[in-house]
Amino acid sequence: LIDCDLPDRSSKDSLRPYASPIERTMHAGEKVSGPNVIVMVGLPARGKTYIAKKLTRYLNWIGIKAKTFNLGEYRRQAVHGYQNHDFFREDNQEAMRIREQVAKEALCDAFRWFDKEGGDVAIYDATNTTRQRRNFIRENCLPRGINIFFVESVCNDPEIVKKNVLDVKLNGPDYKDLAPTTEEALEDFVKRIRHYEDTYEPLDEQRDADLSFIRIHDAGKKYLVNRPGGHIQSRVVYFLMNIHITARTIYLTRHGESENNLTGVLGGDCDLSDRGMEYAERLGKFVEQENIPGLHVWTSQLKRTIQTAQFIDAPKEKWKCLNEIHAGICEELTYAEIQELYPVEFSNRDTDKFHYRYPGGESYEDVVARLEPVIIELERQNNVLVIGHQAILRCLIGYFLNKPPEDLPYQEIPLHTVVKLTPRAYGCDMVLIPLNVKAVDTHRPQPKNVGLHRTREEALETTPSPVIERRGEEAPIA
Ligand code: F6P
Repeated sequence: LIDCDLPDRSSKDSLRPYASPIERTMHAGEKVSGPNVIVMVGLPARGKTYIAKKLTRYLNWIGIKAKTFNLGEYRRQAVHGYQNHDFFREDNQEAMRIREQVAKEALCDAFRWFDKEGGDVAIYDATNTTRQRRNFIRENCLPRGINIFFVESVCNDPEIVKKNVLDVKLNGPDYKDLAPTTEEALEDFVKRIRHYEDTYEPLDEQRDADLSFIRIHDAGKKYLVNRPGGHIQSRVVYFLMNIHITARTIYLTRHGESENNLTGVLGGDCDLSDRGMEYAERLGKFVEQENIPGLHVWTSQLKRTIQTAQFIDAPKEKWKCLNEIHAGICEELTYAEIQELYPVEFSNRDTDKFHYRYPGGESYEDVVARLEPVIIELERQNNVLVIGHQAILRCLIGYFLNKPPEDLPYQEIPLHTVVKLTPRAYGCDMVLIPLNVKAVDTHRPQPKNVGLHRTREEALETTPSPVIERRGEEAPIA
């Protein structure tokens, strides 16, 4: 075992502290299993880092604490300045020593992260192409009660590999300081792949029959799943079998301004205001101008989103799980009324908005859980426009932009604005496109004083003006 300067977790009883919160709740009363190391396997430029980053983002979003340990980054810290492919030759002994050293360091860091920060899933992002390396990982994980799941990406389609090298590798950290021509960098990278090919031992259905793994062929044309163990590994398999790498755009918008928005009333199922209707028309024209191939439009089952979609000429689907957060006993009240009737609830929500659940209603955490099928379906689809609600869009954007949970409920998403998301290799670009139809502001930032004994003024300090009282006059415009 490598010495990571950690307490011994190898006895049966001491495995318990490793149980993640999700496993503790999911498997209450059952054997508590340990954390997982997901070991990426594959030649360079097979999309391993893409998969690792995407998987990390997804797991964190669904509440499983995940972190990527990328060996390329460890190597760059150990050796400043990449020279050329020679570093990756098997007979380069000095480089081999460094590579083994950083492999140990990254694994120890993952163990420390499990131990000290309660991590659930460490994604060990490296080529791990030799049996020797994979055995080293197993020998160090299994006695510590850590589960292993291998994710192998095999890609024999030269077009996909070339695209990956050109899109990601040549602009990446190894080549940026050397500033070679594209041809030089490409040639070097191809040689680097060759060195790995010389020693690559793919996972083998017979020899590795006892291992848990998924093999992904040609970026998702075919999969082989072997002995997935436990809840987390099943979720990982499900997610990986649904993602794709085809370029596409996701559009998100809130419904047009509603009658309730004008008075600051939460929830309900009312019609659009006149300005909301004007936005619906503008949105129809916007979609026509964008000329989006194969567009699908998804709405919630509430009238205001369905009315917003009415001028769009594209197939539409109504999703119940896109309905706005349910405010339970606070439905159809304004923030000011909630403060007056339920000051304790109002203060609790301001204290921890992500976890706070309205009595008889939902929390943001609940909303994330019910939106998971939407995320999976968005991953599977090509161009989609989602017409949703304030809390719903906050959660969806949180996924695409990898926001920490506590930030989700405070994301500002104005009415009458289209959010255009373009997934990129390691992230997602976001552009906000206001369609220039006036609307009220419904965003209420966290007030400075969240405590129980605050004054009414302090509690309502950040509440946008139409939301202070129900008034007869027209609400001010954001
Ligand atoms: O005010 C509009 C609205 O969509 C309400 O229906 C919903 O309760 C609220 O926004 C959610 O925003 P927050 O979580 O900030 O109260």
